Amino acid sequence: MSVPSHVRLVEVGPRDGLQNEAQPISVADKVKLVNALTAAGLGYIEVGSFVSPKWVPQMAGSAEVFAKIQRKPGVTYGALAPNLRGFEDALAAGVKEVAVFAAASEAFSQRNINCSISQSLERFAPIMAAAKQHDVSVRGYVSCVLGCPYEGQVAPQQVAAVARELFAMGCYEVSLGDTIGTGTAGTTRRMFEVVGAHVPRENLAGHFHDTYGQAIANIYASLLEGIQVFDSSIAGLGGCPYAKGASGNVATEDVLYLLNGLGIHTGIDMESLILAGQQICSVLGRPTGSRVAKARSLGE
Ligand code: HMG
Ligand code: MG
Repeated sequence: MSVPSHVRLVEVGPRDGLQNEAQPISVADKVKLVNALTAAGLGYIEVGSFVSPKWVPQMAGSAEVFAKIQRKPGVTYGALAPNLRGFEDALAAGVKEVAVFAAASEAFSQRNINCSISQSLERFAPIMAAAKQHDVSVRGYVSCVLGCPYEGQVAPQQVAAVARELFAMGCYEVSLGDTIGTGTAGTTRRMFEVVGAHVPRENLAGHFHDTYGQAIANIYASLLEGIQVFDSSIAGLGGCPYAKGASGNVATEDVLYLLNGLGIHTGIDMESLILAGQQICSVLGRPTGSRVAKARSLGE
């Protein structure tokens, strides 16, 4: 079975990774992280969120981070926006691409953004209109695509319904999130088969948290389904504050190792990536969550 020749990685560490950190992380350290990720050759970096600071305090300084990063031409620096207020704040901070986020489970939608799935989609409509007017691209997320911390199993048809709505609204890409990392290669393939019948596969991405250690297998399964975009987090940082027990995203270093082994082009440099991971782990005072980075440091 064939896999794609090129894959795009969306680095979500500065957002999905750091949003879950209780300890304060300075704007300077966040800027340093984004700049190091840029230097490693990542083409897309999710820098922060324009959400309520009462809900996610760690993302409060996102505008300042955007003001201070060094932007490399051709690299996308994105941010989450849950409502029009967030979109306007992002626009004022010079953001050229935002992501809206919905869920495939009602209970998760309530806990994460305090509204139902259909209310969330209604809230996104004015964002889509404003984005069009200001030439801002919009990516969409669907959470809980392979399981919900509150509702358990989630039907692929439910994921397809939300993904289709986001795509129809104008999201150029819809990232499907295994928020609690319970998916397996089998459920991942089935989910992409179902969703792929409603949204073109070239407009879908995979977003795997590694809670059950299945993320790399799930990415391989997705590649076999023709998926070419994956979200990952440097050093495996992160989790979601509204999904108890959700550990970090799959580590970018580990995904790159998989893709390099398959001869799939990404344009990312492993050594610089490992350095970026070491840098943020020393700020956080914690070992890396990347198996590759760990193995490399043992070999030194
Ligand atoms: P709400 O309380 O229902 O909203 O929250 P509200 O409109 O009633 O406003 C409440 C307060 O928030 C007000 O302030 C607003 O001004 C303020 P107050 O009058 O109390 O002082 N507010 C804002 N402040 C800053 N920026 C804004 C904003 N909007 C309102 N944009 C809301 C609704 C959506 C705002 C809230 O629930 C929220 O911010 N949620 C964010 C949750 C979040 O960021 N979760 C993590 C990201 S999603 C994720 O990690 C999953 C993903 O990785 C994929 C996966 O793994 O599955 C993407
Ligand atoms: Mg996530």
